[in-house]
Amino acid sequence: MKEVFGTLADGTKVHRWSLENGGTRLKVLSYGGAVQSLETPDRRGRYANVSLGFDNLEDYVAKSPYFGALIGRYGNRIDQGRFTLDGTTYQLSVNDGENTLHGGDRGFDKRVWDVEPFTKGSDTGLHLYWTSADGEMGFPGTLRVKVTYTLTRGGDWRVDYEATTDKATVVNLTNHTYWNLAGEGSGTVEDHELEIAASRYTPVNAGLIPTGELARVAGTPFDFRRAKTIGEDIREAHQQILYGQGFDHNFVLDKGITSRPEHFATVRDPRSGRTLRIATTEPGVQFYSGNFQDGTLVGTGGRAYRQGDALCLETQHFPDSPNQPSFPSTVLRPGETYRSTTVHSFSS
Ligand code: GLA
Repeated sequence: MKEVFGTLADGTKVHRWSLENGGTRLKVLSYGGAVQSLETPDRRGRYANVSLGFDNLEDYVAKSPYFGALIGRYGNRIDQGRFTLDGTTYQLSVNDGENTLHGGDRGFDKRVWDVEPFTKGSDTGLHLYWTSADGEMGFPGTLRVKVTYTLTRGGDWRVDYEATTDKATVVNLTNHTYWNLAGEGSGTVEDHELEIAASRYTPVNAGLIPTGELARVAGTPFDFRRAKTIGEDIREAHQQILYGQGFDHNFVLDKGITSRPEHFATVRDPRSGRTLRIATTEPGVQFYSGNFQDGTLVGTGGRAYRQGDALCLETQHFPDSPNQPSFPSTVLRPGETYRSTTVHSFSS
């Protein structure tokens, strides 16, 4: 189902697509390719929207902290918004202190994507297209991006990313859904249990740029190798926790880069029983504990969002890779195809 969600100041209509399969209900906006709503049942079969969002387009345009959005060209931070590739230095749009965050001022989250529905066997979904012009936000090369959202027969939400370029460039695509498995607007996720199969993470400086070190999680608040609640160590006076005002860090997944999506994280809300399992081809994930939510945004259900009312698990290559020669490369060259897949599975 397709309906008009709103109209931008320049007259462009933004549509909302509604899909349902295998017990999962998904609503997607052409603006930013944003997941506006994702509903799953609890253990008694009661549905709730487990993703943060707004009920109107104006708020998405004016103040969304990337709710549900597609992120590009470069998810996460690039130091000083600058990098050098094949001897040329590129200056990007800077939008996070002195750094570039999530692709700059007008990243993919602020673009109106072309959306095409499809059904394939028992799967249903959307293809989303955006062509990013050479030089957009300072990045080299025309980047042709195709993202596919699939709802499978089993109710999984699968995201496939593809991109090609006509000049050497850097790419790191992700989706920025904020999860609250008890339902958006229902309060903190500090009691959610989280497990991440990562023995290392990338510590950061005060600007949240990685130092380059791959530090062990053992003996730190970053050890989620066995499930623990998000709240358990979030108030530890660990320098990294203080820098992030909570968790806002890239975890180095033990599985590494894989050609097929492999499981790396489980989130569980003990009260509702809702469980989210995530698999990816990516080598890293940004675990963000909703630290910048400050009670000033009113969400889809009419309730204010406060600090820690959601978590994000943004699958990715590591932050600032274009300036970190020891990190897995994010360079894409003409003739190559960037590919990345992340699968979200729900149960209760
Ligand atoms: C990412 C970043 C955070 C924050 C959020 C959006 O998760 O790592 O620092 O910018 O996006 O607010």
